[in-house]
Amino acid sequence: MVFLPSTTPATLAADASLKRNRLDYSRHLSAEARVRLPNPIKSIWKVAQVKAGTINMGNGDPHHTLYPICEMNFVVPSIDEHDPVQSWRSSTGEQNVIASYKDDPCTLSLRTAFAYGAGAGLKEVRDALANLNDRIHSPPSHTVSLSLGNADALTKCFRLLGDPGDSFLCEEFTFSAMTNAALPLGIKWVPIRMDNDGLIPSDLERILSNWDEATQGRRPHVIYTIPCSQNPTGSTLSLERRQQIYQIAHEWDIIILEDDPYFFLQYDLGVNQSTIQQYGYTRAMADVLPRSFLSMDYDGRVMRLDSFSKIVAPGMRLGWVTSNSFFAEKLDMLTDSSSQHPHGMGQAFIAELLGSDGWGVDGFMKWVSSLCNEYQRRRDLFMDVFRQKVAISGFASAEAPQSGMFVWIKINLEHHARFSTSQTPTVTGGPTTNTTDLMDELFRKLLECGLVMMPASTFAIVDGTGTMDSHINDRVNFFRATFVGTDETIRDGLTIFGRTLEEFFI
Ligand SMILES: Cc1ncc(COP(=O)(O)O)c(C=O)c1O
Repeated sequence: MVFLPSTTPATLAADASLKRNRLDYSRHLSAEARVRLPNPIKSIWKVAQVKAGTINMGNGDPHHTLYPICEMNFVVPSIDEHDPVQSWRSSTGEQNVIASYKDDPCTLSLRTAFAYGAGAGLKEVRDALANLNDRIHSPPSHTVSLSLGNADALTKCFRLLGDPGDSFLCEEFTFSAMTNAALPLGIKWVPIRMDNDGLIPSDLERILSNWDEATQGRRPHVIYTIPCSQNPTGSTLSLERRQQIYQIAHEWDIIILEDDPYFFLQYDLGVNQSTIQQYGYTRAMADVLPRSFLSMDYDGRVMRLDSFSKIVAPGMRLGWVTSNSFFAEKLDMLTDSSSQHPHGMGQAFIAELLGSDGWGVDGFMKWVSSLCNEYQRRRDLFMDVFRQKVAISGFASAEAPQSGMFVWIKINLEHHARFSTSQTPTVTGGPTTNTTDLMDELFRKLLECGLVMMPASTFAIVDGTGTMDSHINDRVNFFRATFVGTDETIRDGLTIFGRTLEEFFI
């Protein structure tokens, strides 16, 4: 356990009563979570499992002998290839078959995987992910529950922690699919200012220390953040910022929802070859991956959300939540009474993949490392073509992201002949420029020319009526573009982009 240094005098001055309460996780629960009862059938089921040989006449499971399946074979790349992703792409490498059986020995039998199970997921999968967590994050005591991916996990966390009228904190541009999901629950979003390096800790501090509960309602007790390849801006928080943010969360008793689907896709890592040879890929990657909030979570305030969507496939619909055992139990209760446990096929696949007959955790990390090399190549290609076809005009600029899938492209609208800074705001703090109109025009022009990029306004925080926070209107002169496509789509897309920009500006 490491206590991090306090950041600013203001954090030291934070309300002492908050500090006294900081380990009272129950104060963070929503009214819904407080009154939720456990699924009574699952409770009996847990008791029934205690004694081996107990005859179970209580469940509504079909009998396993009547499942119309006895074996599943997954054809996967061989992890013994020197560079498994390149061999897989070029179809030059070996393939392996990993199998799940209903009755024959394997890591997770289909008999178990296809039965009703606990909402948290099956032990074989949870243990493998807890092992991965331990080796990457070395978290102080935490519990792993499976999810259907981070969207599922997040919406459940919002229900777990949010009451109507609550204000939650988030980055001012964020993954709006998720923040919008919280709006019908009556949760309001409080945007934190960002710069090129992501969320600005001093702005977080400012918001919290200026908060007036008499006029603004309950002080925010949850922050939702995307620390790596922030969606949409592509920024990755530095260690220093992470430590500052954790410290502020500690001072103000805030729960951190660490939504980190891009964590494993990091570039320019400089993985140490001799560490790989001596200790394997997991250790070598753990040495160079960013430090997560989970890894510094000495008081159990982090709910970390990981997903297989970006490192295996989004259709897997599988992820894992790592949190303190109190929140894990409440989350599992919600799952037990809603979506139930994740699908058996996905759990069987992951159990075999990470098990001793599959890639194992270390082989999986070799795949991840190889995937990073390929995405890094695509990022570099994107940035090269961007410099040649787009940045050269001076109408747009972008920095290479250090992780993930996104490039945040700034449109230098101040060079546009019709750019106007003379508008008088109709509301206090309202727009003073015609940025939104020009960006809308450019978006439609790109669409006509056969290119879609996501306008920044799509990711700006909105209130319950869909209206953007007025202060942000003048700063939506960005597009989010992804570099994960083929070399051809990168070249063609950016050629269209450069040409359309020139027509638009001239
Ligand atoms: C920041 C962020 N959070 C959550 C998700 C949803 O991920 P999943 O597929 O695991 O539900 C995405 C998907 O793009 C994302 O970018």
